[in-house]
Amino acid sequence: MTENTTDRPQITKKFKCPTCGNIATYAGAPGERIIVTCTSCGSKGRATLSGTTTPTIGFSTNGNAIEVSHLKKMFGDFAAVDDISFSVKKGEIFGLLGPNGAGKSTIIRALCTLSRPSAGSATIAGFDIVKEDSKVREHIGLVSEKMIMYEQLTARENLKLFGKLYNLPNAALNKRIDDLLGFVRMEKWADHKISTFSTGMKQRINVIRALVNEPEILFLDEPTLGLDPQSTAEIRELTRRINVENGTTIILTTHIMVEADILCKKIGIIDHGKIVALDTPANLKKLVSGTDSTAFEIEISNLEPHMMSSLQSLTAVKSLHQEDPTHIIVRANGNDSFDVIVDTLRKDGAKILMVKNLEPSLEDVFLHLTGREAREKVTENAPSQMGGHGPHGRRKAKRIR
Ligand SMILES: Nc1ncnc2c1ncn2[C@@H]1O[C@H](COP(=O)(O)OP(=O)(O)O)[C@@H](O)[C@H]1O
Ligand SMILES: [Mg+2]
Repeated sequence: MTENTTDRPQITKKFKCPTCGNIATYAGAPGERIIVTCTSCGSKGRATLSGTTTPTIGFSTNGNAIEVSHLKKMFGDFAAVDDISFSVKKGEIFGLLGPNGAGKSTIIRALCTLSRPSAGSATIAGFDIVKEDSKVREHIGLVSEKMIMYEQLTARENLKLFGKLYNLPNAALNKRIDDLLGFVRMEKWADHKISTFSTGMKQRINVIRALVNEPEILFLDEPTLGLDPQSTAEIRELTRRINVENGTTIILTTHIMVEADILCKKIGIIDHGKIVALDTPANLKKLVSGTDSTAFEIEISNLEPHMMSSLQSLTAVKSLHQEDPTHIIVRANGNDSFDVIVDTLRKDGAKILMVKNLEPSLEDVFLHLTGREAREKVTENAPSQMGGHGPHGRRKAKRIR
């Protein structure tokens, strides 16, 4: 067995001894040829540590899978990505949220080494995206905006083709493909042509295609774009399972706020190439609602003025508003305000039919941070942002890698 003498990523692999059948685990660098000594009978053999097993190391020492520092990407004199910094912890789902043309895909392309940043730096799994680009590629999977799939090939043939690009040995690749097809419950469609699949089925195959090399970090660029509600829910659930069951770190870009809210531990809101907010969904919502204030809508079948007066006199209640004869909106401070409000109403004989927590949505946060007015003004001045990544904008700015 080889020794781990560097801080480079290591993988572990189980080998079965051809002499005695004993199975033992060995570690080494991906692709490394090692001499294996059977731990049971002592016979020796050669083996290659192909990248088909779970990596054990390979991240910077502070536990960050991704570190981005002052990243900038210019197209001519237009800054599509403008001085962006963030980090993603190992095992986290991080959301890049922003409208069309905000710069999300440009960030993803740079982090996946598909284009060079104009300034700044980033490390992926501890590797520099410019100086160690091929190492970065070994550790990532990418589901880009455009589906990469050969329609006339079957699901299995497509997966095999991409697996071959990673030089995976046949046996390991076939096993991996079977596992992945099982993971998305597509075994029985394995030998059907992609052209016969629904968009949702195609996207499921497209997502597992990015997992063929067992990446520690997966980039999902608008994975639910153009999908119907059922397929959208399916891909969201798949994203969650990849993260929870495989421990994969995921960067997800989306312009669907609720998607980011459901899936992401941390969110960076991007607008015009800049990060305008970076926090957990809960903390982002506090930007709108105020630090510890909560709003409730309460329906009371026998609402009377003395109940309103009682609520008004509570120190926890910041504001009170009657919507109609049976509905009130209460904004209150403090974590225990809910209990205090309900107790007070009950003491007054209120018959409470419904209480709804009116937590602001991420959409409220986004509008709060950017505002429609500013967007329209900037859009007029920067025609390349109209229509996001469509041909309109690209024609204006010269295509530069
Ligand atoms: N290769 C390119 N050449 C010129 N401009 C580009 C290129 N790629 C993207 N852009 C421009 O950069 C901006 C950000 O695009 P993009 O990252 O695709 O946005 P998003 O993914 O957030 O919708 C847009 O204005 C787009 O037109
Ligand atoms: Mg995009």
